[in-house]
Amino acid sequence: MEISVKLGSARTLKTACIAVAIHSGKRLSPCAQALDKASRGALSRVIKRGDISGNPGESLMLPDVGGISAERVLLVGCGRKDGVSGSEYQRVLATAAKALCEAGVRTAASALLEVTVHDRDIVWQARQMAVAFNSARYRFDQLKSKPSRKPQLSRLLFLCDASQNAAVEAGARLGYGIAQGMDLTRDLANLPGNHCTPTHLAQTAQALAREFPALKATVVNEIEMRKLGMGALLAVAQGSRQPPKLIAVEYRGGDRKDKPVVLVGKGVTFDSGGISIKPASAMDEMKFDMTGAASVLGVMKAVATLELPINVVGVLPATENLPDGNAVKPGDVVTSLSGQTIEILNTDAEGRLILCDALTWCARFEPAVVIDIATLTGACVIALGSHASGLLSNHDPLANELLEAGQTSGDRAWRLPLWDDYQKQLDSPFADMSNVGGREAGTITAACFLARFTREYHWAHLDIAGTAWTGGKAKGSTGRPVPLLMEFLLKRSPATRT
Ligand code: BES
Ligand code: MN
Ligand code: ZN
Repeated sequence: MEISVKLGSARTLKTACIAVAIHSGKRLSPCAQALDKASRGALSRVIKRGDISGNPGESLMLPDVGGISAERVLLVGCGRKDGVSGSEYQRVLATAAKALCEAGVRTAASALLEVTVHDRDIVWQARQMAVAFNSARYRFDQLKSKPSRKPQLSRLLFLCDASQNAAVEAGARLGYGIAQGMDLTRDLANLPGNHCTPTHLAQTAQALAREFPALKATVVNEIEMRKLGMGALLAVAQGSRQPPKLIAVEYRGGDRKDKPVVLVGKGVTFDSGGISIKPASAMDEMKFDMTGAASVLGVMKAVATLELPINVVGVLPATENLPDGNAVKPGDVVTSLSGQTIEILNTDAEGRLILCDALTWCARFEPAVVIDIATLTGACVIALGSHASGLLSNHDPLANELLEAGQTSGDRAWRLPLWDDYQKQLDSPFADMSNVGGREAGTITAACFLARFTREYHWAHLDIAGTAWTGGKAKGSTGRPVPLLMEFLLKRSPATRT
């Protein structure tokens, strides 16, 4: 989607649709008032009829408003005139974007930067607007034999005052970069297991590195994994015909001396559960089990697009988890790259097995911090639903930075404890540890397992099992937690604010 910033009057703007704000109590924003006046009261007449009152979540499309250059007007409920919260504003944007996309217009203009948002600046508003509109227009039709004929929103104008021009340009640019990353994440996550294999993830990383010279991709293959001693990752991969890949993508935009932020993403391209096989119902959704890896690639693309002045390394352990004559069996004991041995009691707890070797391996990048991102436990969906990602960390300042980034971006996380009390649930009579900790506190014991491999650095774990995709009729990847991670990285970038 192309975004440009436009100064000037709403009345003379030529576009298929212009979105303007109406506040609670049927009060028109300045732009809406200007359109109302030019159309001799066309807006006030529908408002008087009671079709819209101005609360967040409401919108009303007016197809024939005379006296103005826009073909349509979208009235958007924007809540209290003296200001709304950041999350209310995001709801307003999502409503407006959905209505515009449903109308099937190719070009649109938004005058919604007029809305006052508490504790947020105009750069944030413009950035959220770009992200929200791009999310609403997203489609995954690459596997349809005939793509949908419905027109797709492709040009968006942000209307603002001259005094806001620079800030709106900056915010739109940030939002555009984040949206590029989210689109890549969603495309990869939506792509089914027969298309999105570990090899496909590796090729995507290599293609990114060709597209952005600031990115460098390296791929560790199965033979090298064996030489290194990645017994845990290889145990998961041994039941699959698809070769596993350990992918690294490096971005060096910061000072040579600056230690990188290392992002480790779970890349299970299909999780059948292995010999501890999952029930058939909704098993298709386990194609999304590589969303951690997809979100790391999305972040790398966004960071490269925005040329952020920081160093970031993405590390993606990628494999399938399938049952087979050669598959790992319950009770098997393997030796991880760290030298610690693991009794695999449940082959469906495979994410932590591939992550533990990647977490040991990534120490070679001398990380400032390591954040892993994984659709790790069904227990996290039970605990937090689809609203917040689970956050566990061995370092309070890092955890707080991530919580704050979640609040600001609206892509929130919620912290769970990582107390030693839970560690004994992983005791094994046959190995250093078991890969499962029983029914209680499943998200915490999974993180406790990972914590045994991250003692050397500051580390946080994001369990995105509930936030990575939506089920039901609108099934599909959400692009989360790219917004959270981008906010975190932007805050860490010296020259950028917001
Ligand atoms: N990929 C799943 C976690 C998952 C389940 C994500 C449902 C989203 C929805 C993971 O590999 C898994 O199977 N975890 C097991 C762990 C258990 C065996 C300890 C789970 O959560 O049931
Ligand atoms: Mn599993
Ligand atoms: Zn899994």
